[in-house]
Amino acid sequence: MSTPRERVASLREEIARHNEAYYAKDAPTIPDADYDALLIELRDLESEYPELASDDSVSRKVGAGSTTVFSEVRHAAPMLSLDNVFDVTELGAWAERVAKGLGLGLEEIDFAVEPKIDGLALSITYIDGVLVQGATRGDGQVGEDVTDNVRTIQNLPETLAVGHRGRVEVRGEVFIAKSDFLSLNEHQRALGAKEFANPRNAAAGSLRQKDPAVSRERPLSFLSYQLVDLDDSLSFERYAQTIAQLSRWGFLTAAEMKVLHGATPMIEHSTWFEEHRHHLAYEIDGVVIKVDDLAQRDALGFTSRAPRWAIARKLPPEERATRLLAIEVSIGRTGRATPYAVLEPVVVAGSRVSMATLHNEDQVAQKDVRPGDLVIVRKAGDVIPEVVGAVREPGKRRKSPWKFPSACPDCGQPLVRVGDESDTYCVNPACPAQQLQQIIHFASRGALDIEGLGESRVAQLLTGGLISDVADLFELRVEQLSSLEGLGELSATSLTEAIEGAKSAPLSRVLVGLGIRHVGPVAARELANTFHSYEALAAAPLDVLEAVEGVGPVIAASMYEYCRDPENQERMRRLASNGLSLREPEVVSALSPTLAARAVVVTGAVGGYSREQAEEAIVARGGTSPGSVSKKTYCVVVGEAPGAGKVNKARELAIPMIPASEFERLLATGAWNTTIA
Ligand code: IVH
Repeated sequence: MSTPRERVASLREEIARHNEAYYAKDAPTIPDADYDALLIELRDLESEYPELASDDSVSRKVGAGSTTVFSEVRHAAPMLSLDNVFDVTELGAWAERVAKGLGLGLEEIDFAVEPKIDGLALSITYIDGVLVQGATRGDGQVGEDVTDNVRTIQNLPETLAVGHRGRVEVRGEVFIAKSDFLSLNEHQRALGAKEFANPRNAAAGSLRQKDPAVSRERPLSFLSYQLVDLDDSLSFERYAQTIAQLSRWGFLTAAEMKVLHGATPMIEHSTWFEEHRHHLAYEIDGVVIKVDDLAQRDALGFTSRAPRWAIARKLPPEERATRLLAIEVSIGRTGRATPYAVLEPVVVAGSRVSMATLHNEDQVAQKDVRPGDLVIVRKAGDVIPEVVGAVREPGKRRKSPWKFPSACPDCGQPLVRVGDESDTYCVNPACPAQQLQQIIHFASRGALDIEGLGESRVAQLLTGGLISDVADLFELRVEQLSSLEGLGELSATSLTEAIEGAKSAPLSRVLVGLGIRHVGPVAARELANTFHSYEALAAAPLDVLEAVEGVGPVIAASMYEYCRDPENQERMRRLASNGLSLREPEVVSALSPTLAARAVVVTGAVGGYSREQAEEAIVARGGTSPGSVSKKTYCVVVGEAPGAGKVNKARELAIPMIPASEFERLLATGAWNTTIA
């Protein structure tokens, strides 16, 4: 452990290094959030140990560090920050505090609701209508004089459109619009220069350029959201009036800003931003809600760091704009041909995304995304990334609409689309792409759970010609395996042992593993529990299959056909002769149906249970365990590393969230003692 003094010194050094990379070289090496965390730790230490603080600490300047060439500006009034809330419940609680503070009802207050632009705060001073100074926020008290660079901002008035005598300060956010950001990076690419990580980084780097000529090249914009009347010569009663004044003076203000009467519509409009954020011209990281009545603001006042009359509702950073490079098609285990987007890599919800699903032919047409388009990629919670749609770029010529290929990209056989289904299939059973996916699925956790048989190993076995069907797995010998690259005798032996162990898997898991169309885990369990052996299942007439609980005509027909297809019959015969039990043990459920007809969603790891086991335990008590949270969800069991999507949804819908430690109690009694806020 280092002493606080040592830690402060090492933090300052590290931050200075990142500042150099970020500002001087415009090439950040760590994500903004990580950088912020270092800065917060340093500021916390400096305030806890004032003897370690120093005026020239990197914490006092916005990323200034040793490269700073800007002089300091003391703000006439501190530039405060905003407190954050992360969901509607917390937002409601803030509104209640406001109402209480004012002695009013929740629905009696006017709230301005506006976008929280993901840029940098800037203060611009005008004297007698003329721009005299631009300053960064800095530590809130002292910022940096960036006047020369501020003058290069395209949409900023040098002089106020309607003359004004006296001194005013206009505060707002400097940012780079989504479409400008892409052209900027295009330009950088053409120059062979480094691309910017995101619009915010680009704006920050551009604003702090030593040479204003460089800033001028950067497409900076400014949106104003605060008017500071330095000599008290203007009289406004409402925030909305100040915004109207700013607009008259020639400033850009948020077109999406609305003043709403009461907390309910206020919360509603804040959610509107969550849904429409990708249609806005700039990136937002939240919604700002402000009390509109300026006298009420005065009554509420400030805490040491933020106004009580305003709050930021943070939105999860789950959508990003990026360039669609190409649309390709991948073949799944059922032969389904799924179109997917090849993207210029972009970080969404914390991870780098370079591919995203487009689902099917109709979706591509409906979203009208074309190679070359600027598209919105969404990666919400733990779902796979998808392309939401294209961003309109006025004046830009687009390619012609994308056409679904007529041949399978893997085997070259025709792709077919049957009836009114929206999916397209490769119907060649010998298609190598299908074989690969089928075997991967067969060995996966939800099916036979064969350890050591992941995607790359299966691919290796397939290309090595050792297998072409799941039945081949059970004929693999150690000698064959140990000749493969990366597989010594030891791992070859454990792989054959794992395969051997899979032979006793219950029929339901084998059915899941076979990937029979429409036969999911629930139907597989019902079928296996009804017939107990594959033999009996395969002999069942169609109407008997249809009569099985939870098995409708579609599943029954698919199962029936599967059993009658000669290739499948051969596969099942080989599986049986290779020693698979293909039986479902009789379980007499002595468990009471504590969760009868209740939907319990599990997210994250629950100690002592695999994901499948946790779901099976719920099902064994009469419940269901769907993969997503809805209004009908009874409760959400939150384990270790839960999915943010499920947690947020549960919060939003006010579904009880219970800790994993309560899982046993839930199973035993259908109830719980504690919930998570
Ligand atoms: S109001 C005293 N309104 O968010 C209130 N801030 O987290 C001052 N921001 O430093 C801020 N959009 O850089 C306000 N519509 C908006 C905003 C906004 C973005 C930024 C601003 C501020 C930070 C606080």
